[in-house]
Amino acid sequence: MEDTVNCHANGDAVQGTVVSSWNEWDPLKHVIVGRATGSHIPPPEPALDAKVPEDSDMRGMWGQRTQDSIDRGNELLDRFSAQLEQRGIKVDRPIPIDFSQPITTPDFHTDAQFGCMPPRDVLLTVGNEIVEATMSYRCRWFEYLCYRPLLQRYWEEDPNFRHEAAPKPRLTDADYRPDYLDVRISVQQRLEWTSQKYFVTTEHEPLFDAADVLRLGRDLVVQHGFTTNLKGIEWLRRHFPDHRVHAVNFPGDPYPIHIDATFTPLRPGLLLNNPQRRLPDEQRQMFEDSDWQILDAAQPAHNSPPPLCYSSTWLSMNVLVLDPKTVCVEKTEVYQADQIDKLGFEVVEVELRDAYAFGGGLHCSTADVYREGHCEDYFPHLEDC
Ligand code: ALA
Repeated sequence: MEDTVNCHANGDAVQGTVVSSWNEWDPLKHVIVGRATGSHIPPPEPALDAKVPEDSDMRGMWGQRTQDSIDRGNELLDRFSAQLEQRGIKVDRPIPIDFSQPITTPDFHTDAQFGCMPPRDVLLTVGNEIVEATMSYRCRWFEYLCYRPLLQRYWEEDPNFRHEAAPKPRLTDADYRPDYLDVRISVQQRLEWTSQKYFVTTEHEPLFDAADVLRLGRDLVVQHGFTTNLKGIEWLRRHFPDHRVHAVNFPGDPYPIHIDATFTPLRPGLLLNNPQRRLPDEQRQMFEDSDWQILDAAQPAHNSPPPLCYSSTWLSMNVLVLDPKTVCVEKTEVYQADQIDKLGFEVVEVELRDAYAFGGGLHCSTADVYREGHCEDYFPHLEDC
């Protein structure tokens, strides 16, 4: 089912390549792991209000997270980095900026920023290119600055590295649907709206977060939801003309933000899907036609996320694949680990739950720099782009 195809430069076609990664599973050799330093709960803003459930412990509070929680988050992220390094994977870390600084642009103001724990949200690596996403929250507008020292270094070291930035969005009120500002919206109402693809973001300008994109070789699968709109997906389509770009959505998720606790590729031909957020039948077709298996992910081990966490308990399936036989799973996510073990993988336990609140799990807290391998076509029956 695998065909090597020419999507720009293939990874090992060039000597001394630093940046190259075409998918979520080829052997990982170089990665960025985030940091919790200085992380804030950002002040209210339209995109964020839509995400925080009405009964959340985060409603109405903002400011820097406690130093104890930051220290604990960093301890776990440092240990995760050391675990990867022990396996021969090179690890780089972002340089946090001062997230207590307010942002004022000609179009908006916010009193503080977010953090740099989840590089996956900001950086999209496709082949020899890393694109800084537009982002869709005002508090995350400048987050790319934490990664610039690394990206600049890659650019110096790797003559084939393409450092790109998607157009910075204006993020005026025109980008957000005012209906979502009402804090009393019920989960039922949210489920109705999201099933109708009536999301908090409008189609005013292209918006995407990198964590809405899954890289499956020549195919990019992109979640249309709160953080990525159709214009954002169209921007990706035009930016990667040698790829096929597929918009997907997952009815059943009242807060559709980032694809990586919903749809998780483990190796070519095998994906986990969150059983509460099933890929609609018509969107399953491309996988079924190429004999991909889509399995229901195991249940999370926890009934609720940790305190002050934006994400759901489904960070259980936010795993990091080290190679097609080895998967990092959060240590307490015993059901997910068991399922992946039974599928024949080596499971690497990583303790990270106390860092979830800073922006996600094992996949979120990392961004690929280099994986071995080529750009393959895993869906050869699909038409050429
Ligand atoms: N949006 C993802 C979840 O919390 C990360 O399930």
